[in-house]
Amino acid sequence: MIDPQRRAAYLEALGIDRWMVRQPSAAPTSAPAAVSSAAPAADADAWSELKRCVAECTRCELHRSRKQTVFGVGDPKAKWMVVGEAPGADEDRQGEPFVGAAGQLLNAMLGAIELPRETVFIANILKCRPPENRDPRPEEIRECLSYLHQQIEQVAPRILLAFGRVAAQSLLGTEATLAKLRGTVHRFGPRQIPVIVTYHPAYLLRTPSDKRKAWEDLKLARQVFAELPAEA
Ligand code: URA
Repeated sequence: MIDPQRRAAYLEALGIDRWMVRQPSAAPTSAPAAVSSAAPAADADAWSELKRCVAECTRCELHRSRKQTVFGVGDPKAKWMVVGEAPGADEDRQGEPFVGAAGQLLNAMLGAIELPRETVFIANILKCRPPENRDPRPEEIRECLSYLHQQIEQVAPRILLAFGRVAAQSLLGTEATLAKLRGTVHRFGPRQIPVIVTYHPAYLLRTPSDKRKAWEDLKLARQVFAELPAEA
């Protein structure tokens, strides 16, 4: 549970006035549900093996310029999984996704729906930094995507949040614009995991006027999660 003062700070970072925030009614909130013993846990051996494969990956040219791979961070049994685009300079240096300025805003966005960063799993489409923060190339995405698919398979989250165009298009296998992808519930993979698409926090730092729309997306995600059927 995030304390009310901290949540207020997160909402402020999103440009949301306190008076605008309605608590969800009697429905369960998006607070991370306790992990039930029936929850599919990431198998420790398979997880370590996947980490090793990523750390040693040379499938595309990005391995030549990276300082290190950025596998992902968080709870490998998380109910919520966040998908970003690719590591930047800070992430390449620290080996952890979303640790720079965009990461601060991401934390605030998650905090606004009462999801402390450590309770979700955060991964990127690419595990290596594209030089000069250029966009990922199609062939890089193609080579790297199976790592994310394996992460999703092993974490088995109940909901996926895609941040930004590259994350959304790559995850959903579409070329539709972000504007088209926002506001509806998409599905991923054989488990038909719901996917909610929103703006990338780096974009929101440049375009704060769209924070309001991002807040709508986050509320949609919270509602979709609250309405998920109970786990078997
Ligand atoms: N932007 C992303 O999409 N991912 C990161 O890890 C950092 C910035």
